[in-house]
Amino acid sequence: MRNIRTYQEVTHDTGSELLEQVVDQQHRLAERLTQVRSVVAVASGKGGVGKSAVTANLAAALAAKGLSVGAVDADLNGPSLGRMLGVSGAQLSDRPSGVAPAKSPSGVLVMSMELLQQEADAPLRWREPAMGGFIWQSTVETGVLREFLGDVEWGTLDVLLVDVPPGTDKIGRLLELVPDLDQMLLVTTPSETARFVVSKSVRMAREAEVGTLALVSNMAGHTCTECGHVSDLFTGDGDKRLEQETGLPVWAEIPFDPRLGTATDSGTPLVITEPKARSSQAILALAERVVEHIS
Ligand SMILES: Nc1ncnc2c1ncn2[C@@H]1O[C@H](COP(=O)(O)OP(=O)(O)O)[C@@H](O)[C@H]1O
Ligand SMILES: [Mg+2]
Repeated sequence: MRNIRTYQEVTHDTGSELLEQVVDQQHRLAERLTQVRSVVAVASGKGGVGKSAVTANLAAALAAKGLSVGAVDADLNGPSLGRMLGVSGAQLSDRPSGVAPAKSPSGVLVMSMELLQQEADAPLRWREPAMGGFIWQSTVETGVLREFLGDVEWGTLDVLLVDVPPGTDKIGRLLELVPDLDQMLLVTTPSETARFVVSKSVRMAREAEVGTLALVSNMAGHTCTECGHVSDLFTGDGDKRLEQETGLPVWAEIPFDPRLGTATDSGTPLVITEPKARSSQAILALAERVVEHIS
């Protein structure tokens, strides 16, 4: 059996007993998270619905309210949270109690795979094992996420946001690492395809008994930058149907706003630069809901 322990993963020698290692790692993670009041996952199951944009703006909005906020980019293969929070190129420093995260201009502590890669266009590749890498992939990836959560010097936080990549399996993995997740925001759009995929995530989160579950409807309507007219971006009403079918509350309806995309993609969340924009207002209101529900 390959010994999968990595540097600093365990505090004492556990031999190569896999189960023992995992239990130990879980202990360390749980210990780290005792300093975090609330872990809030931003997930969906679906890709491209705006999870990262919502996470970045929500993190900045919470920090602007005076909360101490951390943000983990759990999307190891397509990291975008660091970019959106303006920490690309930041140097991480190693401290005895863990890796010091980057700090965004908006005051959010950030950890992302992007910060560990030298070249911007470098795809993530695991060095080992050379053969049968696919067998180990989920083990190694879960190990990295656990390190991002547990081996980073987050300090005392009010909220630790986790930007969860697409795929319900990724939601399941996070829930195994953080069984007492405080809140999960499921981002969807009015598209029928999004409804279909997100409904699976709702079921998964419900079965795991996540404390508070809520929907975020993104790209709900499009405001014309020329005349201000609001039109539908998607013809469907998948978000409304999902709300009815699941009985979950919709905490925010965020319109498609080209300014939100431009600002966020350039590392300056719109909630900071243009808090009066309708899309910013929706995210600021979302931040209120999140704060109200911190247990
Ligand atoms: N409401 C919105 N209005 C305009 N652009 C948006 C909106 N939500 C997300 N975007 C942009 O759409 C793209 C995809 O969003 P992203 O957050 O990366 O999706 P995901 O993380 O779900 O894959 C990004 O460029 C993002 O800035
Ligand atoms: Mg993303």
